[in-house]
Amino acid sequence: MQKVAELYRGKAKTVYTTEDADLLVLEFRNDTSALDGERIEQFDRKGMVNNKFNYFIMSKLEEAGIPTQMVRLLSDTEVLVKKLDMVPVECVIRNRAAGSLVRRLGIKEGLELNPPVFDLFLKNDAMHDPMINESYCQTFGWVNESNLARMKALSYQANQVLSKLFDEAGLILVDFKLEFGLFKGEVVLGDEFSPDGSRLWDKTTLNKMDKDRFRQSLGGLIEAYEEVAHRLGINLD
Ligand code: TMP
Repeated sequence: MQKVAELYRGKAKTVYTTEDADLLVLEFRNDTSALDGERIEQFDRKGMVNNKFNYFIMSKLEEAGIPTQMVRLLSDTEVLVKKLDMVPVECVIRNRAAGSLVRRLGIKEGLELNPPVFDLFLKNDAMHDPMINESYCQTFGWVNESNLARMKALSYQANQVLSKLFDEAGLILVDFKLEFGLFKGEVVLGDEFSPDGSRLWDKTTLNKMDKDRFRQSLGGLIEAYEEVAHRLGINLD
């Protein structure tokens, strides 16, 4: 499937149209951003690692019965996906306290959250992705009640599948962000799952193996992503 035209350039991915109106190509670039795009750096191999990582995780979720936009890998850095009508809301599941939850509540990083927390954020860089709740979605028409309920249920289901998968690889799935869209009226998981949009800690050392290495200038970003991929058995060659 050939790329026809650039549709949208995001912070880490570029989206292209194809000859088929229902299909898009996602290209994973080497860019890494923080602070809503104010800080951007390039890391060799990152596009390839995240593309293969995302494809692996989405395949596991699809196998578990979660509908995803994945069609097939096209190259090291490109994947063919169904074109979704994206919901402008980010779904976050938290198994442990970290990031904005720690800043907002002043609780200790790493605190176990039982049951896991479900948060919603509006996708709006200019407004720094403000936190919202379910009633905002109805009032502002971002997503209807039944589709939001489905997004929430699928997020919790993904958490069960992925917590186990990472646990078996010696990692704690601390939190993660998912984005959904509609395909012919059905709620489908879109965007990506990678260490850019999740927190993964080594189970023994509690070392951070995700984008916090970039956000907190800890170094070794790609080495950590490759280590996670290696532990999951993802072939990066
Ligand atoms: P937070 O602690 O900054 O709220 O983020 C929670 C998780 O969701 C973390 O793994 C990062 C991810 N996330 C994104 O990838 N993009 C976003 O815009 C937001 C709000 C969170």
